[in-house]
Amino acid sequence: MTSTNSHPLALGVIVGSLRADSVTRRLANELVALAPADFHPRFIEIGDLPLYNEDLDIEVAAEPPAEWARFRSEVRDSDAILFVTPEYNRSVPAPLKNAIDVGSAPHDQNAFDGLPAAIVSASPGRMGAFGANHHLRQSLVFLDMPTMQQPELYLGGSSGLFDGEGALADPAVTELLTRYMERFASWASRHRRIAA
Ligand SMILES: Cc1cc2nc3c(=O)[nH]c(=O)nc-3n(C[C@H](O)[C@H](O)[C@H](O)COP(=O)(O)O)c2cc1C
Repeated sequence: MTSTNSHPLALGVIVGSLRADSVTRRLANELVALAPADFHPRFIEIGDLPLYNEDLDIEVAAEPPAEWARFRSEVRDSDAILFVTPEYNRSVPAPLKNAIDVGSAPHDQNAFDGLPAAIVSASPGRMGAFGANHHLRQSLVFLDMPTMQQPELYLGGSSGLFDGEGALADPAVTELLTRYMERFASWASRHRRIAA
């Protein structure tokens, strides 16, 4: 691991697929393993989040679901967020959109507010989930998350990313992911959220 700056950053990693054998999850594991030492990564899980329903946030008699509170607090404790997602129907999978909605609400308590973000997308086809990547960018604009513009990372042919042993099959991809995480660490430290 290399270091790109002297201030550690808590990196929240959110994975868009819930599948046990998810290629996206394996990719996220690699990104975390290749990240520079400045990043202190933690996966923020989204699979247990009840579907967002505004009634549960404004109901004064009851607490919002504990899973929402856990998710919001883990997002708030992060200095940067890395989204790693496949594409479903040219957008992000519903659990990821649900997590965005949960974290962004209530509207005056948006947990994502101001957090620097990056998006890595992957799909078995050639387009590398370009549609999901850019749909997600659209939501991040409204969440007021500065999102790294370059380098972009759309990984096509994702079914061939890993060899039979579960390791990245192509050293060039390993190099690409390493450079991406170095750039993100350096960029995120420059766009760090200023405490309110
Ligand atoms: C409901 C559904 C919709 C999908 N839509 C797209 C799509 O729009 N574009 C695409 O490239 N792949 C699409 N796929 C294929 C996924 O990208 C593929 O299953 C991917 O490997 C899922 O990632 P995972 O291995 O991390 O679960 C879709 C899959 C499902 C189940």
